[in-house]
Amino acid sequence: MAITTTDRITLSPNLKIQQGTFHVAVWGCQMNVYDADRIRDLMSAAGYVEQAEPNGADIIILVTCAVRAKAEDKVFNQLGAWRHQGVTDDHTIIALGGCVGAELAEQILKLDPTIAIVFGPRTAHRLPHMVSSYKATGDKVVDVQAEALEKFDALPEQGQRGPSAFVTIMEGCSNKCSYCIVPYTRGEEDSRPEQDILDEIVTHIDHGVKEINLLGQNVNSYRGLTPDGQVSSFANLLYEVAAIPGLERLRFTTSNPMEFTDDIIAAIHDLPVIADYIHIPVQSGSDRILKLMRRNYTADSYRELVAKLRQARPNIYISTDIIVGFPGETDEDFAETMRLVNDVKFDSGFSFIYSKRPGTPAAELDDPVPLEHKKQNLYVLQETLEKYAQQYSQGMLGTTQRVLVEGVSRKNAHELKARTSNNRVVILEGDRDLIGQMVTVNITEVMTHTLRGVRC
Ligand code: 5AD
Ligand code: SF4
Repeated sequence: MAITTTDRITLSPNLKIQQGTFHVAVWGCQMNVYDADRIRDLMSAAGYVEQAEPNGADIIILVTCAVRAKAEDKVFNQLGAWRHQGVTDDHTIIALGGCVGAELAEQILKLDPTIAIVFGPRTAHRLPHMVSSYKATGDKVVDVQAEALEKFDALPEQGQRGPSAFVTIMEGCSNKCSYCIVPYTRGEEDSRPEQDILDEIVTHIDHGVKEINLLGQNVNSYRGLTPDGQVSSFANLLYEVAAIPGLERLRFTTSNPMEFTDDIIAAIHDLPVIADYIHIPVQSGSDRILKLMRRNYTADSYRELVAKLRQARPNIYISTDIIVGFPGETDEDFAETMRLVNDVKFDSGFSFIYSKRPGTPAAELDDPVPLEHKKQNLYVLQETLEKYAQQYSQGMLGTTQRVLVEGVSRKNAHELKARTSNNRVVILEGDRDLIGQMVTVNITEVMTHTLRGVRC
């Protein structure tokens, strides 16, 4: 039988007895990465010990993504594979959270009977309580409903995880783009109070963090309260964050083109701490499709926005998301998308084939275009996006860049991995004590997806 917990957890400082081990697997967007880190902090504070590998962990926590059907399938396939390989057994407590948790809730217990706990993006803070309840009673727990901002008050202080940190500034999304499941999994938009965000950032900087990435499904519509009860704006928040001493670099994601107001562009112009990189999903270059997507802007207004941003910050690199094969997309619509891509010349782009998401308005639309044709269009688009990405990288050859050294290179443990302001990864030689430092490099080589640099 499934029960629902609604109690807030209270963590006792004496609760440090070892409760067992846990492993966290995370899929999807940066907001999930933030939630997963907070879950790690919470479980550790409750006396559980994290292990990097899933083998033999007492509790496996899955932070999932529902944005496309493929992402959702991956979670269930992974669970099947772990069981098959003996990584998990009948004693493993499996807790499925994130967007799939909120989307499917009770149904998950039928889809995979080995799952014991289902939680959502808004109830992550109750996880230790759910685990205790399941351990005590053996009753499965489904708990996916909460106020948007409740978790931020209930989570412990963040652990230290490298020189760059995510800070969620708002939860949910109220835009209801017709293809997107996020408003139904993360719920309606709500902004955190400004002071809570500033305090979290100051704590990070005190712990050595150099770069902050402000997160939200639609950061431009941030409307948190100021300490004197006024409604703030995203532009205002940017000025406040930029004034924090010790902050070397500020990023934010995701920005909806619809609410990219002139005060935000002015902040990007005024505040050199904001990185030379911005992600602005356009989704399509066809006005007909943008209307069906309920995006509330046109291809030309997007072009104008890019022009204004490039005027405000000539070095800014712009990346985007594009959906190929939205229901009813014709070859003319796709040609309009390609025209936009060639006009804007994105620095990089993420592109996806439309995935029908149950319960969204677009799921009701006729979709006669064969998948094979959509795949061909995706290929054409990706070739073009890749061509521009390579051109921008080539343009960086011989330049001097200030980079933040993030850690050890994944391919070679004797090399370091760093990131430029425009979000390119640079591999360089150097001592590990450079990790967490800003250093200056000359770009000496352009590789397929990374650059090579030498300190100067
Ligand atoms: N199908 C394909 N791609 C989608 N995205 C969101 N919903 C869908 C969907 N149903 C893409 C959008 C968004 C990115 C995070 O995922 O491009 O910007
Ligand atoms: Fe989904 Fe649109 Fe909200 Fe982005 S802005 S999360 S695409 S509904």
